[in-house]
Order: sequence, then structure tokens, then C-alpha cells
Amino acid sequence: MVANRAAFVVLSMMVLLMGAGDAGAEPVDHYGFMVDRRASYDECVACHDGSVAKAAVYCLQDCSFRTPHSILRRYPPPGREAAYRPVESLREAGIELAGEMVVCISCHNLGNPPPYHLAVDNSASRLCLACHIQ
Ligand code: HEC
Ligand code: HEC
Ligand code: HEC
Repeated sequence: MVANRAAFVVLSMMVLLMGAGDAGAEPVDHYGFMVDRRASYDECVACHDGSVAKAAVYCLQDCSFRTPHSILRRYPPPGREAAYRPVESLREAGIELAGEMVVCISCHNLGNPPPYHLAVDNSASRLCLACHIQ
């Protein structure tokens, strides 16, 4: 029942976008769906769980270089600030956090072109190095 699920998700998005006080919402056309460019990770995953769109790969626990990237981690990680660029320089690069957390929109900007709608072009690992100092 992918069609029903899609309709439900679109409806939820519309309710969300029209929601009172949601001043930060920035709807963009995303493959025929109006999606908030600042959608939370669970809004992204509502479609990107393989139901409406291809499943996103990410890591919530026991993350390492062997797993997909972690999300819902504080930026910069407490005690390891020296290995990460200052939040101010992320903003300049076009990278967003949700509160202090790394989420989908930290690496993806739905307003940017395909493939992958990356927040920062990742040639020569520029996206990674916008946060990680190496
Ligand atoms: C209403 C459903 C919906 C929502 C919500 C949604 N997407 Fe998508 N997304 C799609 C569809 C449909 C496609 C194109 C088909 C596919 O990739 O399966 C797509 C494609 C993408 C792609 C491109 C994949 C590629 O091959 O280039 C990325 C990256 C992506 N979405 C990220 C996100 C992020 C990040 C969010 C949250 C900020 C999000 N999407 C929210 C439906 C959605
Ligand atoms: C640390 C950065 C980072 C985070 C966080 C991140 N992504 Fe991605 N994502 C990427 C990169 C880079 C790619 C390009 C393909 C690759 O290198 O795997 C990608 C690819 C994708 C694709 C296309 C996958 C494919 O098979 O074509 C989708 C869809 C996607 N991401 C959605 C999401 C969603 C939804 C979230 C949040 C749950 C998320 N991403 C979190 C960096 C990230
Ligand atoms: C928005 C900032 C940001 C971007 C962009 C980013 N990272 Fe990270 N990354 C982090 C943070 C924060 C952690 C630390 C998570 C923790 O341990 O609390 C981390 C952790 C990691 C880890 C350790 C395992 C894990 O997932 O926690 C690896 C490996 C990694 N990043 C590689 C990458 C690569 C490769 C890219 C580019 C595709 C990338 N990162 C892009 C912020 C970022």
C-alpha cells in the first residue's frame, strides 16, 4: 500500500508546513513532494525507510568507520572539540545542525541539486572536512 502511505506522508507534511508558529519551515519541491528543507530526521525517514523512497543508511548506536555515519550526536562532541571545526564555520559552509545535533540536514540540503543534494559538494571529502579537522 505504498500509494496510501505516500498520501499519508504528504498529508502529514502539509499539516506540518501549515502548522502555526513553524516559522523556520522552507518547503522545497523534492521529487514531486513538498518537503521542508529543515525537516527533522524522523520526517526524512518517514519516506526514506524504503516505503516511499529508498531507505537512508545511518547509524544510531555503536557507530564507527565501519558503519554508516551516526546521527543525533552532539556537535562538537563534548571533550573532543579540538578535532572539529567551530559551529560558526559550519554555518558559513552551509551546514545546519538541529539544536546541537548532527542530523540528515547537516549533510543534505534539499535545495541543492542531485545527486544526493549534499549540503557541501563532497569532492576531495569537502563535506566531511567541513566538520572534521584532519
Ligand atoms: C514525502 C517523502 C519524502 C520526504 C519527507 C523526504 N524525501 Fe528524499 N526523496 C523522496 C523521493 C520520492 C526521492 C526520489 C526517489 C528515491 O530516491 O527513492 C527522494 C530522493 C532523495 C535523495 C536523492 C537520492 C539520490 O539518489 O540522489 C536524497 C539524498 C534525499 N531524498 C534526502 C532526503 C532528506 C535528507 C530528507 C529530509 C530532510 C528527505 N529526503 C525527505 C521522498 C522524500
Ligand atoms: C555525515 C553526513 C550524512 C548524514 C548525517 C546523512 N547523510 Fe545521507 N548521504 C551522505 C552522502 C555523502 C551520500 C552520498 C552517497 C554515499 O556516499 O553513500 C548520502 C546518500 C544518501 C541517500 C541516497 C542513498 C542511495 O543509495 O542512493 C539518501 C536517500 C540519504 N543519504 C538520505 C539521508 C537521510 C534521510 C539522512 C538522515 C537520517 C541522512 N542521509 C544522513 C551523507 C550523509
Ligand atoms: C555536520 C558535521 C559532520 C559532517 C559533515 C561529517 N561528520 Fe563525521 N562525525 C561528526 C560528529 C559530531 C561525529 C562524532 C559522533 C560522536 O561520537 O559523538 C562524527 C563521527 C564520525 C566517525 C566516527 C563514527 C561515527 O559515525 O560516529 C566517522 C568515521 C566519521 N564521522 C566520518 C565522516 C565522513 C567520512 C564524513 C563525510 C562523508 C563525515 N564524517 C561528515 C560530524 C560530522
